Amino acid sequence: MSNEIETVLSSDAFLVSETDAKGNIIFVNDEFCKVAGYTREELIGKPHSVVRHKEMPKAAFKDLWDTVKQDEVWQGYVKNSTKLGGYYWVHATVYPYKNENKEQCYMSCRRKPSKEDITNVEVLYRTMT
Ligand SMILES: Cc1cc2nc3c(=O)[nH]c(=O)nc-3n(C[C@H](O)[C@H](O)[C@H](O)COP(=O)(O)O)c2cc1C
Repeated sequence: MSNEIETVLSSDAFLVSETDAKGNIIFVNDEFCKVAGYTREELIGKPHSVVRHKEMPKAAFKDLWDTVKQDEVWQGYVKNSTKLGGYYWVHATVYPYKNENKEQCYMSCRRKPSKEDITNVEVLYRTMT
């Protein structure tokens, strides 16, 4: 178990980020920056794994990428790290879309998961690699 500090999202929180085809961040909303503890300048251009938490199983992200590359919407639970070494859980919905130049991009919209969902997914993720 870790002694990292959890940030619990407010029930109306809506954390948004967008990436290019390679997963480099091209947009973040203010709420994403605030919860993650980074400025927008620190995030734009970085791989999205900048907020990856070490306990997240690789298989979850493989599933995410396999899904969106097939032009489908992925939904799942993600534990992210904050800049200060804390963490926050989100329920993410990741959408593929094409920008005005017809380039492939992805958008993730994150809401607060229930405590029960977090407990269940923690158990599941411990069984995954
Ligand atoms: C739109 C979008 C949003 C993403 N959001 C996150 C995120 O919040 N946290 C995270 O760890 N990975 C996120 N990813 C997945 C990362 O691109 C990456 O696959 C993951 O962090 C694992 O890092 P690795 O591939 O370097 O092992 C997102 C990917 C996309 C396309």
